[in-house]
Amino acid sequence: MPKAELHIHIEGSLEPELIFALAERNGVQLAYSSVEALRAAYAFSDLQSFLDIYYAGASVLLQEQDFYDMTAAYLARAQADHVRHAEIFFDPQTHTARGVPIEYVINGIHRACVDSPVSASLILCFLRHLSEDDAIATLEQALPHRDKFIGVGLDSSEVGNPPEKFARVFSRCRDLGLHLVAHAGEEGPPSYIETALDVLQVERIDHGVRCLEDPALTRRLAAMRMPLTVCPLSNIKLRVFDQMQDHNLLQLLDAGLVATVNSDDPAYFGGYMNDNFVAAFDSLPLGLQHAYQLSRNSFEAAFLPQEEKQRYLDEVDAYFAAFNVV
Ligand code: ADE
Ligand code: ZN
Repeated sequence: MPKAELHIHIEGSLEPELIFALAERNGVQLAYSSVEALRAAYAFSDLQSFLDIYYAGASVLLQEQDFYDMTAAYLARAQADHVRHAEIFFDPQTHTARGVPIEYVINGIHRACVDSPVSASLILCFLRHLSEDDAIATLEQALPHRDKFIGVGLDSSEVGNPPEKFARVFSRCRDLGLHLVAHAGEEGPPSYIETALDVLQVERIDHGVRCLEDPALTRRLAAMRMPLTVCPLSNIKLRVFDQMQDHNLLQLLDAGLVATVNSDDPAYFGGYMNDNFVAAFDSLPLGLQHAYQLSRNSFEAAFLPQEEKQRYLDEVDAYFAAFNVV
């Protein structure tokens, strides 16, 4: 089915084969002897155990062409999965801290987006384990490239780094007319979702699955049609839920929430968009009507002009009409 992807960290699309190819191209020494040895290390106990390997993998990205190649590979996979539109996260601080110029990062990723038949836009994420001053300095470095990204987000180690730590930088981004999103309620408590809404004034919550622990918050999110970018395979690999049968995607939809399905870090979590849909639909009592809702939600939640959204929604309706769903 046609769909939008709204939660994909481009550094998380770096497949082990490409990590080794880029390491060789750039003369970077890796801590793993082979693609198989690296892949074998992808057994995570929580978010932090994943992030440690994810930042190590990104160390092979040095030249603008590396960022281009990574992004082009992701977009080809997305196209094969009938992703019509992608809003792609990138983590500039992961690269600038290693001395990579921010223009290599932004220009490489952006050029691959321009060259792709998939509609794609970029969301610059601040690393929440670093200081707000570091985030502000990163925003300043990125501003000469303001035309190449549509919004900002907040990712990395959630617990202990609540949204309100980034109140000033998000306020500045709001004044600049940037779209605002934040990871909240992945490992962190429902109160982080609340402060993402009230302090940061975000337009989407990334993950947000822990909202169901707070019924009043759940009702609020549903009433305001606040989208949640849910990532089923990620939630299993990072032990947010023990197994897919325990995932709360159906409860989120039943609560009237604008939930979407996304891949998060597809090279690390066992798959791209369609793999996430197949895994969730295999394990949960989800049917055609849910697929239709998830497809519609993905375009409703996208940062697209209304007429473009409507064109995609019409395509979704036409697709599902063939199954007598609409
Ligand atoms: N960075 C990449 N993937 C992430 C996730 N699932 N949560 C927080 N930060 C991330
Ligand atoms: Zn994420």
